Amino acid sequence: MQTLPALGFMSIFAAESGAKLSNPPSISAWNKAERKILRIFMSIQIGKHITLPDFPLLLAPMEDVSDPPFRYVCKKYGADLMYSEFISSEGLIRDAIKSKQKLDFFEYERHFGIQIFGGDEEAMALSARIIDATNPDLVDINFGCPVKKVVCKGAGAAVLKDVPAMVRLTRAVIQSTRLPVTVKTRLGWDDDSKNIEDVAERLQDEGIGALTIHGRTRAQLYKGEADWTLIARVKNNPRIRIPVFGNGDVDSPEKALEYKNRYGVDGIMIGRASIGYPWIFREIKYFMETGLHHPAPSMEERITVIREHLHRSVEWKGAVLGILEMRRHYSNYLKGIPHIKEVRGQLVQKNNLEEIEEILENLRLTMGAASLQYA
Ligand SMILES: Cc1cc2nc3c(=O)[nH]c(=O)nc-3n(C[C@H](O)[C@H](O)[C@H](O)COP(=O)(O)O)c2cc1C
Repeated sequence: MQTLPALGFMSIFAAESGAKLSNPPSISAWNKAERKILRIFMSIQIGKHITLPDFPLLLAPMEDVSDPPFRYVCKKYGADLMYSEFISSEGLIRDAIKSKQKLDFFEYERHFGIQIFGGDEEAMALSARIIDATNPDLVDINFGCPVKKVVCKGAGAAVLKDVPAMVRLTRAVIQSTRLPVTVKTRLGWDDDSKNIEDVAERLQDEGIGALTIHGRTRAQLYKGEADWTLIARVKNNPRIRIPVFGNGDVDSPEKALEYKNRYGVDGIMIGRASIGYPWIFREIKYFMETGLHHPAPSMEERITVIREHLHRSVEWKGAVLGILEMRRHYSNYLKGIPHIKEVRGQLVQKNNLEEIEEILENLRLTMGAASLQYA
């Protein structure tokens, strides 16, 4: 984050508006100008062209989850920067259909980043060129995936054991695109090799535009609690000038505010808590602005969003796949609703859009517009 200059608001206003200090402007003009100036100086900058609002909320890249239909609902409720699912660089250069499809995005999704992974410099460089041509806002490199089939190819979190390789891969990507390049990684390979502080400096020196840190090691996978103290150390390192985003276990407005204040990160990335609950972005923002809780979504709103998500899923993937892949979202969307088990069971058995619509409509009518507390 840029820091406020020593210049007082009055002189900035005067300089901006040409107002004469002997003839001061009205209070509302002051407020407007101050807000504008605050917005400029509190914003988060990635590269030269991406300006995010103060304390942005990022939607995490999630394989098989963060596709365009899901991103649509997250954008609707306030995600400031979203990412594609991770894309294999090898797949992309082989023209694999699955990898190519993940490149697609809509204009309304901006700011939007495409994430790649791989252990081969040439494949990463070529993929960066392919991504460049699709014109997202940024390219993100995944140096955090813990999955065996990724790690054994020297990709994802594997490079945390080989920082020179990580630097080479990053350089290859940066040199192959005009877009800003960001990195998402973990604290280190395991408890005995938490090297994120060194990694952050090396990657910044290579020219990355921002760093997202998931507060776990590769060995932890998703177990235990994310440790944000090391993320804070990276952020508070005076050598680090790029934005540092924290990630791991943020699932409520209270936690988001607490982590913002305690760890001083520039923004937070949210993954699992958004699945079936895109309202998390709206609720966090509202809580940070007002100190109050935004009312939980009513039944009406939940059903509307499920429908939007479902229809976009079917449009995007076709009826068979769209309906099938939507099944993983129902239980979260309907979490906390009393006596919902039977309805959920019906939803995941139906293969026909009209039948699913009917179940949702019945649910809307029987549950009414009751506002539900998020469990
Ligand atoms: C289903 C699922 C898929 C994921 N896929 C990716 C991925 O493609 N790229 C990536 O960098 N991280 C991926 N992650 C990790 C998340 O981006 C995030 O770092 C992790 O879930 C911790 O954040 P959270 O506690 O907010 O969920 C995935 C996580 C989940 C649960």
